[in-house]
Amino acid sequence: MANQHKTVLVSGGTGYIGSHTAVELINAGYDVVIIDNLVNSEIYSLDGIEKITGKRPAFEKVDTCDMGALRRVFEKYAFDSVIHFAAHKAVGESMDEPLKYYSNNLVSFMNTVELMKEFGRPNVLFSSSATVYGNADTQPVTEQTPRKPAESPYGNTKQIAEDILRDCTRAYRGLHGIALRYFNPIGAHPSALIGELPRGVPNNLVPYITQTAAGIRKELSIFGDDYDTPDGTCLRDFIDIVDLAKAHVATIDRMTQGKMEQDYEIFNVGTGRPVSVLELVKGFERVNNLKLPYRITGRRQGDIPAVWADTTRANEVLGWKAERSLDDTLRAAWAWQQHLGK
Ligand code: UFG
Repeated sequence: MANQHKTVLVSGGTGYIGSHTAVELINAGYDVVIIDNLVNSEIYSLDGIEKITGKRPAFEKVDTCDMGALRRVFEKYAFDSVIHFAAHKAVGESMDEPLKYYSNNLVSFMNTVELMKEFGRPNVLFSSSATVYGNADTQPVTEQTPRKPAESPYGNTKQIAEDILRDCTRAYRGLHGIALRYFNPIGAHPSALIGELPRGVPNNLVPYITQTAAGIRKELSIFGDDYDTPDGTCLRDFIDIVDLAKAHVATIDRMTQGKMEQDYEIFNVGTGRPVSVLELVKGFERVNNLKLPYRITGRRQGDIPAVWADTTRANEVLGWKAERSLDDTLRAAWAWQQHLGK
């Protein structure tokens, strides 16, 4: 019989961050129940999770926007904590189809919080993003850095969902929430058994790099080298996906061990180190011993020149720190791409 205290519901658990988090939760002794509607992930992530951990998480194909189906999950499984990943995540698409983003990302989150409240399940971990900081006035950003008006409907759903969680934890006794603000998650599990599965042409830098290296894409475009940064390309805080997954375990530990100081807390999850786009490309070439065809093109609309995390709070309060080197992360990213090609 599963222990309710040690059971975590993971929505969007077959996705990129969800599957890596499921692995680390299982490794840490938690029982994991995954729900996913599989619109942007593959069921065979479960095989990868099982191969790595020796345990297959329970799985239900459920759309979190479907309140009836979600309620049945709450009736069937006893858990104290939920990690809510289930969301659309393409910034550009959200500009073209805002309603798709507002309705999917917010309804699914509100349904989840509503049922947590109704069933008296205390802990909600929300998957937020550094996008909430927008083009901040100073870098690195701390959790206190004021959020800027969102530049995309996607970013706005992250801001609104954070506010929903803050307000609900304030209003409903016994409900606790933590928002993790991710910087740029990259890489794959070192086993190469799970990783990112972008559909169509990737929007994000690292999948585009690995697909270019694999010959699927002709060349990488580097969007702008005339920014006010050391080499003119944008600066980001690239966080290894396994490190990121472990931050979720530290967060769930904090919640289930009753260590929260406030009913709603926020943590940045990054490395604290800015890396330029060009540095990342060169690092990828060096550690994997290959040449990447690339070209500098114009800036991409909506990109901010630089964002990186002050991770003091996560380091000190959560007791979590990014550990993997960028070289290892870039090796894992390439190993995963090669695994996909087989
Ligand atoms: N880039 C390129 N070429 C590409 C793709 C990206 O040069 O083909 C550059 C971008 O211009 C940017 C950097 O690589 O400077 C990183 O771009 P990504 O698209 O990988 O990531 P973003 O920083 O734009 O966005 C990511 C996530 C969002 C999240 C945001 C938070 O995709 O979900 O970080 O800051 F909201």
